[in-house]
Amino acid sequence: MILITGGTGALARLTIQRLAGRDVVVGSRTPQAVVGGLPTRDLDFDDPATLPPALAGVDTLVLVSAGYAEDDVVLARHGAVIAAAAHAGVRHVVYTSLYGAGDGLGIAVAHRWTERALADAPFDVTVLRNGLYPEVPAGLAAGAAPSPSADVLTAPWGSGRISLASREDLAEALATVAAQVDEALTAGGPTPHAGRTYELAHPEPVSGATVAAALSSPDAPVRYVPTPLADARAALVASGAPAYQAAHGLSILSNAVAGALVQSHTDLPELLAGPPRDVLPEVVAALDHPALSVAG
Ligand SMILES: NC(=O)c1ccc[n+]([C@@H]2O[C@H](COP(=O)([O-])OP(=O)(O)OC[C@H]3O[C@@H](n4cnc5c(N)ncnc54)[C@H](OP(=O)(O)O)[C@@H]3O)[C@@H](O)[C@H]2O)c1
Repeated sequence: MILITGGTGALARLTIQRLAGRDVVVGSRTPQAVVGGLPTRDLDFDDPATLPPALAGVDTLVLVSAGYAEDDVVLARHGAVIAAAAHAGVRHVVYTSLYGAGDGLGIAVAHRWTERALADAPFDVTVLRNGLYPEVPAGLAAGAAPSPSADVLTAPWGSGRISLASREDLAEALATVAAQVDEALTAGGPTPHAGRTYELAHPEPVSGATVAAALSSPDAPVRYVPTPLADARAALVASGAPAYQAAHGLSILSNAVAGALVQSHTDLPELLAGPPRDVLPEVVAALDHPALSVAG
């Protein structure tokens, strides 16, 4: 049996759709809000009492990171569920981590800590190192540097390129790995993906120039103008977002400006039925750029 955590989250929802018909239970802090008709269990990494009943009888745990908090909170969450999984006799954990290009990001601290904790645990592990979602740089740009007119794209991305991954692709890869692992465990054969770490990013990084080109039409070109990190910091602080989120957002932009978010090797095609989904349209859609309303 598979248990997927974080059942109401965007990644889990897409993954659950692909696991329909299998022996799956969905864990969530709000099981009544889980969609898809699969059986649910009450599961909150912050509430130790929920962990043993949620993990009872589970062979394959799909551990979706619960990263929206300060690092000490995330470490405690992930540490608690890993210890509980070991105690419950879970046989294989599939963890959604962060791609290697993100090693310099603030959010990497908790992901790499979790990978090390999983490596020390008594079950098999598969780590899916997820690329940034397309709406991440787009959202940081939209908040920090609204484009002043339809012919200009302003964003605090410098001139660097950024590797991204469609959440749909990440969900397909996650569901594929979880299903194959659980099938093998049920059949008693050798378990695929055990001990593997997969880097998951679209092979083509995006840049300010490529996003501006995607916004352009033959008679309405859009040019990219990078904006300063200081403006992005001021906008993040003024947005009222929790302080840790402002720090993480700035860290993503700093790494982008430094050209450090290019994932040179990707395993994504290996885990998909077709080619990776194009991320540029998702970046564009998340920008709310004036050129989009001009285009109609
Ligand atoms: N690759 C990226 O660009 C990127 C960007 C942002 C975040 N992330 C990470 O990827 C994860 C999945 O992304 P997403 O788009 O699905 O995020 P999302 O839609 O915001 O969902 C947040 C998830 O965190 C779970 N969660 C929060 N607190 C929890 C707790 N105490 N115990 C158990 N689960 C808890 C929620 O589950 P329930 O509410 O159902 O319990 C939900 O699945 C995020 O949680 C975050 O760690 C990645």
